Amino acid sequence: MNETLERWSTRRAFILAVTGAAVGLGNIWRFPYVTGENGGAAFLLLYIGFVLLLGLPVMMAEIMVGRAGRRSPAQSLGHLAVQAGASRHWRLLGLFGVFTVFCILSFYSVVSGWSIEFLVASINGDFVGAAPAEVGAGFDAFLADPARMTFNHTLFLVMTMLVVAAGVGKGLERLNNLLMPALYLLLLLLAGYAATTQGFGPALAWLFMPDVSAVTPLVVMHAMGHAFFTLAVGACALMAYGAYMPDQQSLPRAAGAVAVLDVSVALLAGIAIFSVVFAQGMDPGEGPGLMFVTLPVAFAQLPWGALWLSIFFLLLLLATWTSSINLAEPIVATLQGTGLSRGQAAAIVGVGVWLVGLLTVLSFSTLAEWRPLFGMNAFELVSTIPPEIFLPLGGLLIAIFAAWVMPESSARRALGVGPRGFALWRGLVRWVAIPLTLVVLVAGLV
Ligand code: TRP
Repeated sequence: MNETLERWSTRRAFILAVTGAAVGLGNIWRFPYVTGENGGAAFLLLYIGFVLLLGLPVMMAEIMVGRAGRRSPAQSLGHLAVQAGASRHWRLLGLFGVFTVFCILSFYSVVSGWSIEFLVASINGDFVGAAPAEVGAGFDAFLADPARMTFNHTLFLVMTMLVVAAGVGKGLERLNNLLMPALYLLLLLLAGYAATTQGFGPALAWLFMPDVSAVTPLVVMHAMGHAFFTLAVGACALMAYGAYMPDQQSLPRAAGAVAVLDVSVALLAGIAIFSVVFAQGMDPGEGPGLMFVTLPVAFAQLPWGALWLSIFFLLLLLATWTSSINLAEPIVATLQGTGLSRGQAAAIVGVGVWLVGLLTVLSFSTLAEWRPLFGMNAFELVSTIPPEIFLPLGGLLIAIFAAWVMPESSARRALGVGPRGFALWRGLVRWVAIPLTLVVLVAGLV
């Protein structure tokens, strides 16, 4: 056993840490634009269904394995597998997770860098009185400038790796304590403002009245992938945090709280963003720029708009920071297992992610038309394949491990539930989550 492993100091700290991992670009940037590209309400309902049926039980499985193993993800899986009399090659699942979060972090860092750019611009008052077309043109000009984008990407990655190098502990706890409530309040305010605009009614209709004819196997697969992505499930990153979870805490309750917070942040962001889209006659399917163009326009209309907008981008930046720290943690924990110090491991990961991230940077200019696979450019590949295929696949394997390989006694102890609760969880994982993930993956791929 690794006796020196840090523990989150309180139950609240663990919930905040996992919420910090879950709430990020996925809720505020990715959710609205992917919903926009996939037709609105039908996608939203599917995504919520997947959060409940798949995301939650698999999230519990993932954290449970971490808490039972109390090691880095790959080591935990290998160790528990051997204990259960299964192959120690289960440890490869941890390495697959590392590969997945590495790919995700490479674009996550670049897009988080966009928030830095927008934070600076809003402090400068650049968006005061701006019309959607002007904000859009400014954003396009920024995307076409690899040097500026690289600068922000670098800055963000350094911020992330510094925290990870110092160790996930007190610093992150304190940050989460303040950040999550503040972000939530600001989004409430923004959604409240949206309710007073004429875009509000159409936004609600578009978000909540499903058009069933828009549902294709591919839309279902996008919704499933997004559920995994937004909950931070399927890449052993929450497993890494589970290793630090206090023994006495109820895992189902913690996971439930995180899911509720995560979905409600996405809904608030969606309501705010689509109200602007409809009030200004913009296109919901606008793509990755959707949030960056709509929110400056919305805030520009509020009294003290530049101030609110600056606060918003600051909070968004902090939220993406806590998410990217979570993305980096399993990679660093795994490298540390090879004998490197935390600092060395963080430096190596930082350089690697930085280099691969340059592909995303260039996907908006020089390499925009370089489409090596499936007709997608580098950014489209890393922002689609890992969230929509690798995460569900990883989640599927984690679920199989937790519900079929681990013996009931140790799984139940690490889950911290009674026999009835355990039967419910395991039934849900065995007979709902696992088959559903398989069916959706296969149908989507075919
Ligand atoms: N959930 C985060 C978001 O919505 C992204 C994220 C953090 C993530 N950690 C993860 C995604 C681990 C997959 C796996 O922005």
